[in-house]
Amino acid sequence: MSGVVSTILRKMREYAAPGMSTMELDQYGGQLLNAQNAKSAPRVTYGFPGWTCISLNNEIAHGIPSERKILREGDLINIDVSAELDGYWSDNGGSFVLGKDVHHFNPLVNTSKRILREAIQKIKGGVRISEVGMFIEKEAKRSGFKVIRNLVGHGVGKGLHEDPKEIPCYHDPLNLKRFKKNSVVAIETFISTKATYAYTNNDGWTLTTRDGSFVAQHEHTILVTDSQPVILTSSNGI
Ligand code: CO
Ligand code: CO
Repeated sequence: MSGVVSTILRKMREYAAPGMSTMELDQYGGQLLNAQNAKSAPRVTYGFPGWTCISLNNEIAHGIPSERKILREGDLINIDVSAELDGYWSDNGGSFVLGKDVHHFNPLVNTSKRILREAIQKIKGGVRISEVGMFIEKEAKRSGFKVIRNLVGHGVGKGLHEDPKEIPCYHDPLNLKRFKKNSVVAIETFISTKATYAYTNNDGWTLTTRDGSFVAQHEHTILVTDSQPVILTSSNGI
């Protein structure tokens, strides 16, 4: 299952091109999901109007694919693919710059990817969830960035969002929960140039910043063990 969503995420990233609408990119993702008999998780769980979430520039997440949103060279694009197959659910996502990095988004994108990789290496059964949040926040700050405080990673497996319901990117001293061995969780970064809060648009779905800042998200579904986690979505290339 995880191999399905991670391969689709990689293929969609490779398929994206200037001049294409986000609707066209999403249709391609939908075809790939259907070819595997996989069901779009946001569609079946929340009635999301798209197969995948595609967010452009100041949009952070849950962007609705649209014929009117046309990709341009240098755009900051986030694609998030989550799906269900044979009762198992998996979730992954990633931000990237389309073509030439004309707006210099790559430092943000690369920082988010690096922090995700390093944060995952810290996770094993018994580790406090807040410890990983503290690491993500500290690393973002060290690189001159902030984190979004109201978007979180989560448990995943027999449903899209399971316990633990919140795996934040910041240090929450009140969160005493620990990662459990043999559990499956989606770890996500939300690294921001300035904003710390995501607002919902008038469309009821799209999350954006309101101060013109940009956010990069990277997400893997992992299996927690008593040593290094198994990255189930590694074929997304993140
Ligand atoms: Co996701
Ligand atoms: Co997720």
